Amino acid sequence: MLDIGAGPGFLAAEIASEVGPSGHVCAIDRSREMLARAKHRCAQYPHVTFHEADADALPFPAASFDAAAAVQVYEYVSDIPAALYELRRALRPGGRAVIVDIDWASMVWEAQDRARATRIFHAWEEHLTDSHLPRRLSPLLHESGFDVAAVEPCTAFTLHPEPFVEGLATLISGFVPGRRGATAEDAAAWLEDLSATSSAGNYFFSLTAYLFLARRPPAD
Ligand SMILES: C[S@@+](CC[C@H](N)C(=O)[O-])C[C@H]1O[C@@H](n2cnc3c(N)ncnc32)[C@H](O)[C@@H]1O
Repeated sequence: MLDIGAGPGFLAAEIASEVGPSGHVCAIDRSREMLARAKHRCAQYPHVTFHEADADALPFPAASFDAAAAVQVYEYVSDIPAALYELRRALRPGGRAVIVDIDWASMVWEAQDRARATRIFHAWEEHLTDSHLPRRLSPLLHESGFDVAAVEPCTAFTLHPEPFVEGLATLISGFVPGRRGATAEDAAAWLEDLSATSSAGNYFFSLTAYLFLARRPPAD
């Protein structure tokens, strides 16, 4: 199984545990720092291997893998057709891929100053190549020779500032200053606004990722 853009290795570790030592998980990422974290997380699984590589130039022979996953990775990739070409090449005929990306327009995060929150979210979109990739992924997969077996929304939703959401708020507030007109003062004020919204009992967060199950046709 190929984990494209494995990041800190959560999925690679889970799949390694599922498939056991008779299976093999191959984790790739273009970031050395992420690969180091993934290696650490997967230390107990010798059947996970690691490669520093780009999603659009996979360093494997054709038809090497039964299955692949790319979770929140293609939204960062500038040449999606090249990445999908590589994905199809690396999968054996009949092999399956799970692709998950977020449509960041789906983010609903209540704030007392909604106009400021909208400016912050607009600036955050700069951290990606395409913050709305799921909308065009089905046709892109078809054009790249995949069958699309299923598409499902996966929504993260909470009425409380849970650790995942607080971590995201910290990432966003650190990223946006100086982008698309957002300032450090805006970012700090937005964080305070989230706290005030929570204290007032109005906390509301919702964000949707879309999961695509794609298959390389068996007779390919
Ligand atoms: C948001 S993280 C997701 C990590 C992991 N898939 C997960 O779900 O926890 C995105 C990862 O994709 C990697 N990445 C982004 N663009 C890439 C590319 N073109 N080729 C390989 N890895 C890439 C980043 O280095 C980062 O580790």
